[in-house]
Amino acid sequence: MKASVRQSYCSADSIQLVDLPIPEPKPDEIRIRVMATTVNRTDLGVLTGKPYAMRLFAGFPKPRFAVTGTDFAGVVDKLGVGVQDFQIGDRVWGFWDHGQGTHAEYACIPTKYPMLPIPEGVGFAEIVACGEAAHYAFNFLNKVNPSEGDHVLVNGGTGGIGSAAIQLLKARGILVTAVCHEAHVDLVKSLGADRVIALEKEDFTKESIQYDFVFDAVGKSRFKCCKSILKPKGVYLSSELGPNWENITLALYTPILGGKKVVFPVPGSIRESMDAIQSLLLEGKFHPLIDEKQFRLDQMKEAFAYVASGKKVGNVILKVGDGTKQ
Ligand SMILES: NC(=O)c1ccc[n+]([C@@H]2O[C@H](COP(=O)([O-])OP(=O)(O)OC[C@H]3O[C@@H](n4cnc5c(N)ncnc54)[C@H](OP(=O)(O)O)[C@@H]3O)[C@@H](O)[C@H]2O)c1
Repeated sequence: MKASVRQSYCSADSIQLVDLPIPEPKPDEIRIRVMATTVNRTDLGVLTGKPYAMRLFAGFPKPRFAVTGTDFAGVVDKLGVGVQDFQIGDRVWGFWDHGQGTHAEYACIPTKYPMLPIPEGVGFAEIVACGEAAHYAFNFLNKVNPSEGDHVLVNGGTGGIGSAAIQLLKARGILVTAVCHEAHVDLVKSLGADRVIALEKEDFTKESIQYDFVFDAVGKSRFKCCKSILKPKGVYLSSELGPNWENITLALYTPILGGKKVVFPVPGSIRESMDAIQSLLLEGKFHPLIDEKQFRLDQMKEAFAYVASGKKVGNVILKVGDGTKQ
């Protein structure tokens, strides 16, 4: 089978597309014929081993998986000994942020990992785009649990996390102001944002409005710059650690001081996120944003370089075989 491989933490240039034997499932694993996967920011962390904390999960000193890839949508192709809950031919999708070698034509996945059947009528590309970024968005919002009547600012409305966060907030009836580059204002409005700020035209940190939550989904701002736009008990969250990991430190002491605070959303249950996102997808309340640029397995270097550029729009799909067909 073809697979995207590297032996140590590296940049996109060092990935190789190689021929490997089709893996055999161990007991309690299923083998998936991968139809679609994504190249996402977590993949970039697992590829490069940066931030260094990533190596605690992805493997130290070397990555645990030589094959890259954290999510998949595909078809069960072989069962390991003891597997009872799956059958050959089942359509399934899943995500595991420590890496699980899914940038390949086949991957063996332990059945204890987060995985769901793909609902009837949902395509491989659509469901695989409901994984990584939507999980982080769901998890972030759950950490602070905004409620109807709250006003939330989402910075980075075109990111994978930001585009999902806008939709998840709207599904809860929350007022959303989103920030993005001017070229994407209409796109972000189409996701349901009540108000969109073009960052070339207005600096959102200088607004006179105050928000219940500022959620920086691209990690480009800082708490100290957003304090004036937070209500007295307002909460700041960021998808990034910030300079010198300040968002972790701030999350430790700002809650003790009272008033405006930082919450750092350490990721929680992936299975819970997948269940919730899939339900919203079936209710028509969530549509993953998919980048117009799609890649094939033999274009891994280009796909990773594109994601690393910080210019992707929503989720970047990697087609494997006949991946976008039902
Ligand atoms: N904490 C965690 O567990 C965790 C997990 C995954 C990812 N992350 C981090 O979260 C961040 C977002 O990841 P993602 O996959 O959602 O993002 P992404 O899709 O890579 O974000 C790229 C998008 O952000 C927009 N953007 C760039 N600079 C911006 C700015 N200054 N203001 C507003 N929008 C801007 C870009 O728009 P243009 O194309 O118009 O420039 C592009 O559409 C990344 O920094 C990633 O490392 C954190």
